[in-house]
Amino acid sequence: MAILVTGGAGYIGCHTCLELLDAGYDVIVIDNFSNSHPESLRRVMEITGKKLTVYSLDLLDKKSLETVFQQNQIEAVIHFAGLKAVGESVLFPLSYYQTNILSTVNLCEMMKRYDVKHFVFSSSATVYGIPEQVPICEKASLRANNPYGRTKRMIEEILRDLFQSDPNWSIALLRYFNPIGAHESGKIGENPKEIPNNLMPYITQVAIGKLQVLSIYGNDYPTRDGTGIRDYIHVVDLAKGHVKALEKMMTTTGVETYNLGTGKGYSVLELVAAFEKVSGLKIPYKIVERRPGDIAASFADVSKAKRELGWVASKGIEEMCRDAWKWQTQNPYGYESRKEQ
Ligand code: UD1
Repeated sequence: MAILVTGGAGYIGCHTCLELLDAGYDVIVIDNFSNSHPESLRRVMEITGKKLTVYSLDLLDKKSLETVFQQNQIEAVIHFAGLKAVGESVLFPLSYYQTNILSTVNLCEMMKRYDVKHFVFSSSATVYGIPEQVPICEKASLRANNPYGRTKRMIEEILRDLFQSDPNWSIALLRYFNPIGAHESGKIGENPKEIPNNLMPYITQVAIGKLQVLSIYGNDYPTRDGTGIRDYIHVVDLAKGHVKALEKMMTTTGVETYNLGTGKGYSVLELVAAFEKVSGLKIPYKIVERRPGDIAASFADVSKAKRELGWVASKGIEEMCRDAWKWQTQNPYGYESRKEQ
């Protein structure tokens, strides 16, 4: 019996594969490598000393997808695969709806056909949009305000409908806050192909000299220092949360949402300060206009995950910065051995 991980070569996916292998599961990965690198999985095998099976295919290709179900005894699925850039989703909404929604429908159809009904879905705190209050609990209203966020919300609803149609399904909808950091080995981590959109990889690329200066998007938010507050969570804690959710799904039926965060919020300036402390470097920054679509503060009420999954994030902000920096310094060009011209 094996766990199928779609998008397993990506940032959160490969850390989750590592935790699954360490916990003794057999792991099968499907990835189309459109925004990931097979080297991440090679390194997961190197770190764990265990093998995983990799299929290079697209979930939109139903025929190939079916062969994976034919060739393996799959017990449960963790579904990461999908497009994830907010700005890009505004420009190309159809490709987001096509890729994220259709691939999930294909996957569920195949799971149904092969009677695989344990499912863990990679959702996002983005589904909350501008929160009415913080900390955000799972019952908060959902107001995703961009196509990417709406695909996550729609998929959550599709999965609820699926459960309504057949109560034998067990489905966990995991809403991540802001994953950062890397495995403590420094061998796997976040590998943005272009100039990073997200704060942590931007900071590490400034620190290593690939980028000149960090732009801080606004210091006039109603927060303690005027910069945006987020719930940063170490990617290894997040990966462990998936294993906990999977274990729970194996023993129950139903659809449950869980926030995965630390429950603590840090401002942009506080994250910069933590990084400077850990690295001993100064991060040059300038304050610029707010980024459209950004919110002042977002952090999680994590009590449900603690209560029902027995999971809490254990790594603090300095550990997140230390591991992100270790990954960046050991891999200045990510999974490429040198920058391709
Ligand atoms: C973003 C996405 C969110 C996605 C998440 C994945 C947007 C609007 N939201 O969340 O949908 O799930 O990434 O991790 O893109 N900041 C700077 N300078 C930078 C980059 C960021 O000041 O160069 C600030 C932002 O204004 C924000 C904080 O840093 O206050 C965190 O930003 P980011 O890492 O992009 O995450 P989110 O915007 O929370």
